[in-house]
Amino acid sequence: MVPLKRRKTNSRSAGSDDIAVSKFPSVIIFLLERKMGASRKTFLTGLGRRKGFRVEECYSQLVTHVVSENNSGEEVRDWLEAQTPGGGRTGDSAHLLDINWFTESMAAGHPVDILDRHRLRVRTEPSHGAMVPTLKGYACQRRTPLQHHNALLTDALLVLAENAEFCEDEGRSVAFRRAGAVLKALPQAVHKMEDLQGVPCLGGHSQRVIKEILEDGTSREVEMVLQSEQYQAMKALTNIFGVGVKTADRWFREGLRLPSDALNSGHKLNHAQQAGLQYYDDLNTPVTKAEADSIGQIVEEAVQAVLPGAEITLTGGFRRGKPTGHDVDFLITHPEEGKEEGLMPKVVSWLEARGLLLYQKTNINSYLEATDGPARPPHNMDRFERCFSIFRLERPRASPEQHPQAVGEEQPQERGSPLGRRASESPGWKAVRVDLVVSPVSQFAFALLGWTGSQLFERDLRRWAGQEKRMSLSSHALYDSTQNRYLRPCSEAEIFALLGLEFIPPSERNA
Ligand code: UTP
Ligand code: MN
Repeated sequence: MVPLKRRKTNSRSAGSDDIAVSKFPSVIIFLLERKMGASRKTFLTGLGRRKGFRVEECYSQLVTHVVSENNSGEEVRDWLEAQTPGGGRTGDSAHLLDINWFTESMAAGHPVDILDRHRLRVRTEPSHGAMVPTLKGYACQRRTPLQHHNALLTDALLVLAENAEFCEDEGRSVAFRRAGAVLKALPQAVHKMEDLQGVPCLGGHSQRVIKEILEDGTSREVEMVLQSEQYQAMKALTNIFGVGVKTADRWFREGLRLPSDALNSGHKLNHAQQAGLQYYDDLNTPVTKAEADSIGQIVEEAVQAVLPGAEITLTGGFRRGKPTGHDVDFLITHPEEGKEEGLMPKVVSWLEARGLLLYQKTNINSYLEATDGPARPPHNMDRFERCFSIFRLERPRASPEQHPQAVGEEQPQERGSPLGRRASESPGWKAVRVDLVVSPVSQFAFALLGWTGSQLFERDLRRWAGQEKRMSLSSHALYDSTQNRYLRPCSEAEIFALLGLEFIPPSERNA
């Protein structure tokens, strides 16, 4: 009989081959190179794989058994914690083992039972005062309610995050946002620095700011930023719909400070910016849930008129339970795949014909599923058919008791103020930003998850997928790079499950 020749897998590559040949699927080993040395690690990795074990080249959350030689438990723990940005507690679930467990398992040809002598001891530091020793490093692993206990601290960190964004320093901005997000997940107010023992994601800078606020009630750095001309101008200019950080920064350097400067300076403005200036006050007045619901009824009517059976879902902050928002986000789909194609222009025409839109810009759907997986890094921007719009929302007629002066008075529309009308003038309608997104039903779960936010929650979901699961998540799809195929979950809950995450309901995604 001709012996069946087995194709030798490259012993250096971790990946689908190793999974295919792994005889012990519940055991995923990582050998710590520290003190062991690279060549011994390579030798032991090859040995383990030949024996049918899955031995990973790199450390990740998939690892179940961390094996090291001549390291103390504390040394291994510190090394593992350094692998997670912000000092997360990645190693908590993996066994920390001495090399003797590995050699005995090799000799036995299977993973031997873990005995006391195999385990590395990790002295747990006295942690009285540590409020949440188990808070996890990724926002998508935590529950973050809307109401939390540390607004003073998170507001301050948000100012620093915004300021870093205005300086186009995204790394620093995200670091401050992460620090703020983790404080939102704490079950109690922080009173002293010891309360933060074991809390991940707090960099040195954030900790200094927190310490100062806890001790003095305020942070000098934050106060300085708030009073700086640049921060104030950038904030006012980026609050114009259609103006991003790059444009605002250019305008600032050209001497513009206020939205009205943009009107009076003779700058060429695009349509979005013109609308942004015209409706500046309304668009910077928070949208209430009642207003969001009124717009929902209008969108529902429009959608049913042009495509009966289509379904609309309120997403964004309102789906997370926020009482107000800067805009209203809707996702539209149809239970029959393909029926949704070309829907947006019809909805827009319907709305325009009734004078309900003050501004709109529609993008076509440009998403194509590549058979060899999504581009890396995956696009943050999604490619759905999408309409950025400004609705003209009729204000509910007030009863005379509520607003005696508003009744019976015809409000003039444009008052010729440099920034259009003011919200306080209370005309019969309000300009409201609305985002409409159309998704094929096959991508609906991804679109819903992607559009529910918060932004940091979404960012960490994608980071988790990539760094911990070798998967790529977008608002369109989930691709598994280990199996080289797309996964096809049908609900948000299934996506969380495929990512190995506990399901977090929308109301607890307020990171
Ligand atoms: P929003 O910017 O509307 O934020 O995006 P929000 O959470 O609803 O907050 P407010 O109340 O309006 O200020 C909603 C979600 O949609 C996603 C973002 O990730 C965010 O989580 N989104 C937004 C996209 O996926 N693509 C975009 O182009 C814009
Ligand atoms: Mn929104």
